[in-house]
Amino acid sequence: VAMAASNQERSFIMVKPEGVQRALVGEVIKRFEQRGFKLVGLKVLVPSKDIANVHYGEHEGKPFFPKLVGHITSGAVVAMVWEGKDIVKTGRAMIGATNPLASAPGTIRGDFAIDLGRNIVHGSDSVDSAQREIALWFSPDELAEYDPTVTPWIYE
Ligand code: TYD
Ligand code: MG
Repeated sequence: VAMAASNQERSFIMVKPEGVQRALVGEVIKRFEQRGFKLVGLKVLVPSKDIANVHYGEHEGKPFFPKLVGHITSGAVVAMVWEGKDIVKTGRAMIGATNPLASAPGTIRGDFAIDLGRNIVHGSDSVDSAQREIALWFSPDELAEYDPTVTPWIYE
């Protein structure tokens, strides 16, 4: 069975410090895993100011930027790379709207969060952002390769 390369799209998904402290790591992983996506990278770390500044570089200069960087560097995060068809867009849909009060029930933020600055999880917003973020947080040897032909119960 020939599998499309698009089934191997990748996104950077990160459980933020509040998600780790609230013991939601397994819940986040479970949702992506059960949907059928593949976990290709995972690590626990306390992000440095340097990596946080680059990761959130698009928001530099905005009023919430210092608080955002201060928060993301305040504790352990779980950084992950997930793989699968349309993972970037689908991952964002599973995560929900940026403001949890506007996130639909059934999304991660809509089920577990209230405040904007405590919205549990990050997900790349485009394929370009995903590539940039994956390269920032992971080296190539930290990412697994899956045989894309071994998922006939997920992809037709
Ligand atoms: P953004 O990239 O706009 O949202 P998303 O995480 O959905 O891609 O913003 C990055 C994070 O910054 C967001 O998850 C929460 C925080 N943030 C604030 O604290 N205040 C704000 O006004 C905005 C827009 C974001
Ligand atoms: Mg964003």
